[in-house]
Amino acid sequence: MAEQSLVFIKPDGVKRRLMSEVIRRFETRGFEFKRLELRQLSSDEVDAHYQEHVERDFYPRLKEFILSGPILIMILEGDRVVDTVRKMVGPTDALDAEPGTIRGDLALSKGENVIHASDSPESAKREIENFFGSLVH
Ligand code: RTP
Ligand code: MG
Repeated sequence: MAEQSLVFIKPDGVKRRLMSEVIRRFETRGFEFKRLELRQLSSDEVDAHYQEHVERDFYPRLKEFILSGPILIMILEGDRVVDTVRKMVGPTDALDAEPGTIRGDLALSKGENVIHASDSPESAKREIENFFGSLVH
């Protein structure tokens, strides 16, 4: 199966009407959209998604933020999609992100940084199974 990445626009991006801007970047880069869905996550889905962070001091703030409104979930497919999308997204703290990246163009914060993208093909598989129940074709 071709490589896939689980990407979502966080509640700040949806509220700031950045959905079309972010979709456009992935569409024009050439990735295939396998899923595109606006969804309000449950508490359990957030805990499962951010399982590596649940014990961190910032986690309660992160969880409250992710639950604060709907997110736009995408499954993107294409050659080396995981690394390529992470490059397009930029580093976690938007203040460190270069202009031209999504965070570098659209955000100014480490917490409210517009977008999530899988950090490895293994994470993508786990995240897709968490949100969609199984891998998608
Ligand atoms: P993401 O998982 O959301 O794509 O972001 P990331 O890989 O760039 O960053 P990660 O280390 O996985 O952190 C997940 C999200 O938690 C929030 N965060 N806040 N010290 C802090 O205040 C802090 N550290 C992380 C951010 O929203 C980050 O995107
Ligand atoms: Mg991460």
